Amino acid sequence: MTRISHARTQDRPSLYGGEFSRRITVRDIAAAKESGEKWPMLTAYDAMTASVFDQAGIPVMLVGDTMGACHLGYDSTVPVTLEEILVLSAAVVRGTERALIIGDLPFGTYQAGPEQALRSATRLVKEAGVGAVKLEGGERSARQIDLMVSAGIPIMGHLGLTPQSVNAFGGYRVQGRGETAARQLVRDARAVQDAGAFAVVLEAVPEEVASEITAALDIPTVGIGAGPDCDAQVLVWTDAMGLTPGRLPRFVKKYSGLRDTLDEAARTFADEVVNGVFPAAEHAYH
Ligand code: KIV
Repeated sequence: MTRISHARTQDRPSLYGGEFSRRITVRDIAAAKESGEKWPMLTAYDAMTASVFDQAGIPVMLVGDTMGACHLGYDSTVPVTLEEILVLSAAVVRGTERALIIGDLPFGTYQAGPEQALRSATRLVKEAGVGAVKLEGGERSARQIDLMVSAGIPIMGHLGLTPQSVNAFGGYRVQGRGETAARQLVRDARAVQDAGAFAVVLEAVPEEVASEITAALDIPTVGIGAGPDCDAQVLVWTDAMGLTPGRLPRFVKKYSGLRDTLDEAARTFADEVVNGVFPAAEHAYH
């Protein structure tokens, strides 16, 4: 059974800011946990945006099923299909040279059992070229994780607010509050690690619980609304760069105002066309 060694790699470049002449792998991620290095992760859904993040040195990108709302116009992650994840994952792989690209397993492509999960994950690795695959769930997904890892596919888990279960949760709510829920979250995290996952996302959980899990696990935790003690932090890129409209979750920090920038640029273009300013002489052929 293929399991990741957590041995320290001497003279390893740092995940962010280090000189890598190859793609980052799950071994580099394991070494970062060993050395206590924190690292950033962003979602990506297309080649051009992914190439910007790759050049900026983002070491890990997730082609997440958040593409449902952020890219495909759905109102949640639930309708996203494997075919959609495959097309956009392949684009992100083509647009990058250095980042580890993780493809998400959408709702309905792994819940039926380990064989279904393996079939879906195999397509992501073979057809899209991703270096790892993510799925939601702790103890309930452990058999799936075990089989995929045994088949040589690096797996990232996802616990806490798992958006594919939005109908069961009755909305997007913080998970792991209260002693019983916190203990279950810790058990789920251990189950994901014991099944062979190389990392686990903790979404919208109390920072105290995330901190306890991060200290207890040998694999890195990737926080999103899980406080500062996680080994890594992930944000949905359209949230972080100010493209997503409307009210954002409390855990989002906006690093740019892309929505306003694009709005202003689109209006300027339209005004110039209407007023005969564009195209100017330098834009014409003779
Ligand atoms: O699908 C996604 O983008 C995710 C992140 C929010 C972690 O699961």
